[in-house]
Amino acid sequence: MNILLVGSGGREDAIARKISETDTLYSVVTNENPSILRLSNGVMKYTKNSQEIINFANKNKIDMAFVGPDDILDTDLVDKLRENHIPVASPGKNAAMIETSKEYMRYIMKKYKIKGDIENTLISSKDELSNFFKNNDFEYAIKPIGLTGGKGVKVMGLQLSNAAEAVKYASEIIDRDGKVLIEKREIGEEFSIQAFTDSKTVACMPVVQDYKRLYENDLGPNTGGMGSISDKNFILPFLSIDVVNEAREILKHIVNAMKEDNNPFKGVIYGQFMNTDHGVKVIEINARFADPESINVLTLLKSNIVDIFLDIYSETLKNNIKFINKATVLKYIVPPGYGIKPRETELTIKDRIETDNFKVYYSSVSGTLNKVTTTKSRSLALIGIADTIYEASDIVEGNLKYITGDYYIRHDIGTESMISRKIKD
Ligand code: GLY
Repeated sequence: MNILLVGSGGREDAIARKISETDTLYSVVTNENPSILRLSNGVMKYTKNSQEIINFANKNKIDMAFVGPDDILDTDLVDKLRENHIPVASPGKNAAMIETSKEYMRYIMKKYKIKGDIENTLISSKDELSNFFKNNDFEYAIKPIGLTGGKGVKVMGLQLSNAAEAVKYASEIIDRDGKVLIEKREIGEEFSIQAFTDSKTVACMPVVQDYKRLYENDLGPNTGGMGSISDKNFILPFLSIDVVNEAREILKHIVNAMKEDNNPFKGVIYGQFMNTDHGVKVIEINARFADPESINVLTLLKSNIVDIFLDIYSETLKNNIKFINKATVLKYIVPPGYGIKPRETELTIKDRIETDNFKVYYSSVSGTLNKVTTTKSRSLALIGIADTIYEASDIVEGNLKYITGDYYIRHDIGTESMISRKIKD
């Protein structure tokens, strides 16, 4: 079959590799990702004009389409593909609101009394804002309603030192967007669960933990994600099965609620959860594969991804998706100054460094497989696959000598000292 993939980051490289194992790939790219270009039978540059993408799909007799990035799910593309009778395994603009509008996500959770909701208030005037902070002395997370590329949420006690800073940041958001979401700050270990869904069946993938902070020991500003880990038994060593099951149930409940709300969700959905001392809490819900967490799970996926897409489209998904029982550790190579003042740079990657237990996925780069030019975003996702998280981390570290250039990477992700500290906590 001819499969159209939209997007060209590390996540899409992982999707592209799975599609091209069995079917013929056509791609719509925002950057000239050398790995995706190599795998594609035909490529077009992304445009906001969806009709041009439909024309490309028709010309190449596309049988199924899949859209990766959040900002493209927030356009009319998926709806236009459907109107033009091109099957697609991604949510339309309305269903994608579960990610693109945090107001909608909290509305669904409240209306359908879904466990895991966080105390929250939507504020649209500055008077209301100062009253709110005068009358409440908890710590809060200040969140824009729409997409922020993982960088718009600021939390008191982390990125905001006091109530005055919180009011200032929330006021800026009101000036820009007309409203701001204020959520009570929750404390606990975060984890991601991604699932395939046809709006009826929710097939969960292995649990992954994403490391968002720029510096080692989880310090510094938030980024798109510096790396991620998953364990052999698909649960993380510092989470219990009960906690994971609670989160899986919440995700199922959200999918059911959206169907009941006449806004069925079909595609990949992912929950960012927090394990607090008063239960599992929903930090956010996203309408897509996570990046980097998707790379962990897609590297392990045994089932045929195109069959899964077909089942999502035809609403015949079954809960029988298979993954390899291995641990994975992913560390992103990013340009120097990433997240603060990034500089574009060149990286050289030694020929044929991939093995059964080590892979290199290409993200926001262009060039060739052996020499890439970076952008200001994440560059290469290095992933180790092993029986334990620590071994998988060592595999990544052992392969760094094959990549040269000026770059930054978090070495601590998946190390024994990091994991044992989390188990103790
Ligand atoms: N892992 C963060 C994201 O995909 O939004």
